[in-house]
Amino acid sequence: MLRIIYRLKKCVFIIGIVIGVILAYLLIDSENETSMQMSCKIRDGSEIAYREWFSMQNFKKYPANYFELRDVNSASGDLTSEASYLYSVVHVHCVVFIKKRRNALAVKNTWAKHCNEILFFGLENRSDVSVTVLKPKSSWHYLCDAIRYLWQNHKANLHWALFVSDDVFVIPENLRYYVASLDFNEPHYLGEEGTFWGIEYNVGEAGYVLSKGVIYALQNKFSSSESCLRSGKYWRNEDFYLGKNLGEMGITPANTKDDSGCNRFQRYNLNYVSSPQKHTVPSSAHSLLNQITPGCYSDYIITFNGIEPDKFYLYDYLLYSVRVVHNGVSHGNQPPPVSVSEDQVWREFVRAEGFGEPASISSKQYFELWQQKIQSPEVFNTFLRQHSEGIFNSDDVDGANSLGS
Ligand SMILES: *[C@@H]1O[C@H](CO)[C@@H](O)[C@H](O)[C@H]1NC(C)=O
Repeated sequence: MLRIIYRLKKCVFIIGIVIGVILAYLLIDSENETSMQMSCKIRDGSEIAYREWFSMQNFKKYPANYFELRDVNSASGDLTSEASYLYSVVHVHCVVFIKKRRNALAVKNTWAKHCNEILFFGLENRSDVSVTVLKPKSSWHYLCDAIRYLWQNHKANLHWALFVSDDVFVIPENLRYYVASLDFNEPHYLGEEGTFWGIEYNVGEAGYVLSKGVIYALQNKFSSSESCLRSGKYWRNEDFYLGKNLGEMGITPANTKDDSGCNRFQRYNLNYVSSPQKHTVPSSAHSLLNQITPGCYSDYIITFNGIEPDKFYLYDYLLYSVRVVHNGVSHGNQPPPVSVSEDQVWREFVRAEGFGEPASISSKQYFELWQQKIQSPEVFNTFLRQHSEGIFNSDDVDGANSLGS
């Protein structure tokens, strides 16, 4: 809700500027006709498509806060959260290519739990997670064999397959939300788009998603491991070959940017989310350097670079455990059922302190009563000083005291 209001404000602001500019033009030179085109939003339409899709699911939606949601998720009744409903109807197979054992373990312990199924591929199975070993001779061979394996062993309940390397962090819930309204039997090739030698492809660093329709087409075209090997050489270019091979079948990357033009699939890490300068960062083997636009991080982000395993646990905690009381917790925001007058409050206090009928207390007695309850500033400062010894140095304690007095 906040987000929508903010964007509207921005929109109103832009309209304001545009009107201002038009007026200025009219005043300065009324003979010059200017036609101005403006667009407040880059509409990706997926939000609308999702709402339409959801309205056909025969559910009634109502908002719930964190505490209610906890009950909803543990209850076995008719209530279910939107995310767990999506989990049950939008299957996501997560395919992870393992380079480092520590990364594999971090993936398994964090975001992989939110996939319907997880498959690890690697060159050896000696890690703490079960890895399916492939013996590829090129990186396209590697990906192509993994796709063929996925089809042979998982085609029955396959909807969407996400392919990432082990340093990418994924939010599968956001992927389900994005693809729920799409037909997985149709070809959908989703990721962060790039172009190399006139070929449009989804860059590997951001991970990419293939619908069952695409996987079917690929395993049809590459019916053996040898045919995979024949059609792509060298290493670190499987993303390009995937785009090239799909392009030959008429399947091209979809635009997955959100309403604000920001990437849902993000090849970079989140270190620059709101830093004011532009950053030039090293990118894939194909495009040498890339400029990041600061602040352009999607609210509906699906993938981003996780940097290192320790960070995976941090993101997992922040995303799935921390309860942010940002828009309030509904219980605390409601007035009490019966309003209590100030008069009643002090009368109740006096009565509870054993002074009998409140009408009989003088204001001096009332003051003394409070004085007994509250420590003097001197006593409080001494208390603070005793408790802060060994925690702060003496300068800090002095500073705290001068603030307090
Ligand atoms: C990997 O190795 C472990 C233990 O050696 C084994 O239990 C597991 O089945 C293997 N995984 C695969 C996919 O082969």
